[in-house]
Amino acid sequence: QQDNESEDVFSVPNYACQRRTTLQNHNTVLTEALSILAENAELNEEDGRGIAFRRAEAVLKALPRAVRKLTELKGLPCLGEHSLRIIKDILEKGVSSEVEATKQSERYKALKLLTGIFGVGAKTADRWITMGIYNLQQLQSSGPTLNQAQQAGLEHYEDLNQPVTRAEADHIGEIVRRVVLCVLPGAQLTLIGGFRRGKPTGHDVDFLITHPEEGREVGLLPKVVSLLKSQGFLLYQKTTKNSYLESEDRPTQPSSNMDRFERCFSIFRLKSHQESAEVRGNGSESRPKSWRAVRVDLVVSPISQFAFALLGWTGSKLFERELRRWAGHEKAMSLSSHALYDTKQNSYLRAASEEEIFAHLDLEYIPPSERNA
Ligand code: GTP
Ligand code: MN
Ligand code: MN
Repeated sequence: QQDNESEDVFSVPNYACQRRTTLQNHNTVLTEALSILAENAELNEEDGRGIAFRRAEAVLKALPRAVRKLTELKGLPCLGEHSLRIIKDILEKGVSSEVEATKQSERYKALKLLTGIFGVGAKTADRWITMGIYNLQQLQSSGPTLNQAQQAGLEHYEDLNQPVTRAEADHIGEIVRRVVLCVLPGAQLTLIGGFRRGKPTGHDVDFLITHPEEGREVGLLPKVVSLLKSQGFLLYQKTTKNSYLESEDRPTQPSSNMDRFERCFSIFRLKSHQESAEVRGNGSESRPKSWRAVRVDLVVSPISQFAFALLGWTGSKLFERELRRWAGHEKAMSLSSHALYDTKQNSYLRAASEEEIFAHLDLEYIPPSERNA
């Protein structure tokens, strides 16, 4: 192999949605450091900083090998002064003092712990910290009012912070599919989120439900939820109605990922397989716990919006954000999980597959396993 200078410089396109980012990451030390700073910014609601670190992290994830010298990064997009300083410290000294200090900080640790409770966001965690609440014991004893989601989140804290395996996701998929088909024969259930991108574990399991005949999906979710509930599968659920109206809802906020599908955020009660139940036994009793709690998201889309919903809910979060940024900034289009709107033609662009959406956006098709930005 030649040791030619120019061959040692990486080249990566600007937008994450133009890149193929697999789960194989050659720069985990660097990306984990940037991810801590991104997370810290997000937890402190410094959105701009959070996005900047996430973009820098994603560029490093897309590199074909480990970075050896800072000069190799010359000309790469999204690497700001701050990110470059972190990378430089790690390449030269093995660690970044800023990252280490962040990890040690009481505020970061408390924000992470408290937002690890399902139903608790950065704002609530910040308010609790102001009240002197830094851990779960202090939360239990000082007793601020918890809503139902937070109560369930606290009750199942340990389970919900255990990664969900692919086997567990598939098991839940079988349970949900059986119930969905029972309520609406012909309905289709698709595993979305991180598992669709090939991740071996996740923080939850995400499913998209549709029916090949437009309109048949209306009213489906409450029936699915009540059947799951009656069969003892739900520890908690909150169902939100569909509020999408094409006429009124021209997607105007391309940076927001909120959509209006009928959906259900739930906590599942999943029976453990014998072996895993024994391993995870809580120790204090002779009989191990025979089930665990798992976060499950269900989303329903009409078939006419299915491709957009599938693309919008497969992630990663940064990949989605970059798709919307590309659409808006480069194509004068507005992409949501419902539709793609062309502001120059003043019209919606139909699509029956993810491939067609990428084509409308003038992007090379990137399969789910390469959307791990
Ligand atoms: P893990 O669950 O941590 O393994 O990763 P994940 O990629 O599955 O993340 P998550 O379950 O949080 O979200 C899955 C996808 O759904 C991501 O691409 C999110 O951007 C998207 N998503 C999450 N919440 C919403 C929402 O309210 N609206 C829309 N449109 N998308 C959402
Ligand atoms: Mn997920
Ligand atoms: Mn989810």
